[in-house]
Amino acid sequence: MASMSQLTMAMITLYSGDPKRIQHFMKVYAFAKMIAEEEQIGAKQREVIEAAALVHDIGIHAAEKKYRSAAGEYQEQEGPPIARAMLMALEFSPALTNRVCELVAHHHSYQNIDAVDLQILVEADFLVNAYEEGLPKRNIKKFRDKIFRTETGIHYLNELFALD
Ligand SMILES: [Fe+2]
Repeated sequence: MASMSQLTMAMITLYSGDPKRIQHFMKVYAFAKMIAEEEQIGAKQREVIEAAALVHDIGIHAAEKKYRSAAGEYQEQEGPPIARAMLMALEFSPALTNRVCELVAHHHSYQNIDAVDLQILVEADFLVNAYEEGLPKRNIKKFRDKIFRTETGIHYLNELFALD
């Protein structure tokens, strides 16, 4: 049975020499895991959320190499096959692998977030990105009001940035 620590090891190996991005996905993983627990998501779906958080930006190097751009759409295109190969090699279930690949393919598309696993991934990623990119408070608030849905994610964001 594959574990999150094995997946973490594989991701750190893949991102060798890129500590910034390793720190990024470890932070997204921690927020996503805690939001999922607090929101009382079931075990199977929590596993999907945790795995997706670890691999969500897996397409970034391929996108940079192929298109010289880390733009979301390129990552969403390049990411899933790389994620699939890694998850299958670690013997994660086909159901988990398929869903994680869907999440990797959609985590930059905010128009139709129709499932709680994608919702939590997007919120966790934003909690980290808002800080890493030094977003102004008004932009963080706007994103919160438009996109955030979970009570825990909203609470984390409000506390992190002392929003009202
Ligand atoms: Fe990210």
